[in-house]
Amino acid sequence: MKTEILTMLRETEGYVSGQELCNHFGVSRTAVWKAINQLKDAGYEIEAVPNKGYHLISAPDIMSAEELKSNRKTKWMGQEILYFDSIDSTNTKAKQLAEENYPSGTLVVADRQTAGRGRRGRNWESPQHTGIFMTLMVKPDMNPNNASMLTLVAALAVAKAITEVTQLPAQIKWPNDIVINGHKIVGILTEMSAQIDYINHVVIGIGINVHNESFPQELRETASSLLLESGKRFRRADIIEAFLEHFEKYYEVFLETQDLEALMNEYNRMLVNREKFVRVLDPKEPFEGKAMGITKKGELIVDTWESRKLVSSGEVSVRGIYGYV
Ligand code: BTN
Repeated sequence: MKTEILTMLRETEGYVSGQELCNHFGVSRTAVWKAINQLKDAGYEIEAVPNKGYHLISAPDIMSAEELKSNRKTKWMGQEILYFDSIDSTNTKAKQLAEENYPSGTLVVADRQTAGRGRRGRNWESPQHTGIFMTLMVKPDMNPNNASMLTLVAALAVAKAITEVTQLPAQIKWPNDIVINGHKIVGILTEMSAQIDYINHVVIGIGINVHNESFPQELRETASSLLLESGKRFRRADIIEAFLEHFEKYYEVFLETQDLEALMNEYNRMLVNREKFVRVLDPKEPFEGKAMGITKKGELIVDTWESRKLVSSGEVSVRGIYGYV
């Protein structure tokens, strides 16, 4: 009921009377009053004027299921949202939910992770009240070989969402980091459960540094947050909402052809590596060249002196970014 009241307050410009709320939800005045008080306790500023009703003045920076659901503008992405003040890892939880038959598009969000995981077995620092730690679970009907492209689809959606909400120049570092002014703000960890020709589920875990005021010594050179880059505090729920909307749109386009043909121009426009010298840390033989953009399969096109190479995975460092000079 808190979600429904919040949705109604958000959709109404002026005041919603207590009676309207009672009639609409078929509950007593006391029940409405209780729900309003719970929202106030959670940090919502709600004005109550006799003979007029309730009016939402401001919403706090929380990512509760009520907050996210009452703001949701998607058709089906994020239809189920689960929020945790603290959890081991949202990726682990999302996998568990996939096995419990939660629908494709389920979103898990946490304010803190005690065992946040990064790529290549690294940890992902996830202290409370600082970031967005979320995992979107999808069950695409497609060949498992194409699943890695979903990370690029997610990177594009996150970059768009951050640009829209913060006006900061978010760029993608292929394949899936988001950087602002050369500093990493977002990391994405995609994990899949599949049979030979069938995907059970894919979990796309996204960590966004939002309110961090500083970073541990070893990350100081490379990492940053939206607060450090702009001097402003953005509401995390606004970024999640914008991400869900963009991801839903791009995901549907991607599924039609199961490649990035229709999205690659947009991805390339946001690519920090584009026209830059990069070093490809190929496990067999590292090489350098100029990155030209991505192919419709999501590979990075790198022109070396001798030939054009297509890089499908592996660590790529860009000159001037993360200390590669
Ligand atoms: C990277 O190494 O760049 C990827 C980091 C991914 C972190 C996110 S935070 C939410 C989700 N849950 C996890 O345990 N990891 C991902």
